Amino acid sequence: MRKILVAGNWKMHGSITMVRELLDGLLAGTAADGKADMAVFPPFPYLSLAQTILSGSHIRFGGQTLNPHSQGAHTGETSGSMLKDMGCRYVLVGHSERRAIYGESDNDVAARFKAALESKLHPVLCVGETLEEREQGKTEAVVNRQLDAVIDLVGMDAFRKAVIAYEPVWAIGTGVTASPQQAQDVHAFIRDKLRQQDDIIAGRLRILYGGSVKGSNAAELFAQSDIDGGLVGGASLTAEDFLAIYNAVT
Ligand code: 13P
Repeated sequence: MRKILVAGNWKMHGSITMVRELLDGLLAGTAADGKADMAVFPPFPYLSLAQTILSGSHIRFGGQTLNPHSQGAHTGETSGSMLKDMGCRYVLVGHSERRAIYGESDNDVAARFKAALESKLHPVLCVGETLEEREQGKTEAVVNRQLDAVIDLVGMDAFRKAVIAYEPVWAIGTGVTASPQQAQDVHAFIRDKLRQQDDIIAGRLRILYGGSVKGSNAAELFAQSDIDGGLVGGASLTAEDFLAIYNAVT
């Protein structure tokens, strides 16, 4: 039985005050033996504070991206080993904002996935189609291409340590959520595709849904057989909103 993972991607939001209040609130509102696992993805400057507050607790944390190189002359960049050093368990790779705004190609994303594993981090691979691609009936082709780039580089066995997040671009930050059935259909497509490579790994893999998840729609999404949790943006920025999603896990 896979345990639901409720993950909060804070994107470029936060302050010292906000991080303290939010993490204190999440620690108070969740339990180590709780019904779901929880993870947060703070901006890099707050990882140290997150490490201090969350150290020894049941709440995990991770970075929002990483550079594919292990070290060197890459001003402004952060390596996987640095994230590991800061106590990160996870790292997001291929978030649609990284792909769209910072030009990360499928191959760049695959290289970051590989670098994450080499640093003993669990990559959270984000995939998903734009509205235009959905309207053209290309959803499965896009997700397939995004997954293949990673599988071709690292092989299916690497997915033992990974999490996948299906985040349709049209649902991110728009208030428009994929219907539970729309999300389930793509999640099932992803799992079936991976099952063809390795039944056991695909069966155990957590596939999160992301895109306007909130307390009011989380229960119905998490009830779908192939949805194993959520990657939450806006509603992960206050303890009240994020705990409403955690508490929707039955
Ligand atoms: P929203 O929950 O704000 O739509 O963001 C989703 C997301 O991009 C999480 O990575």
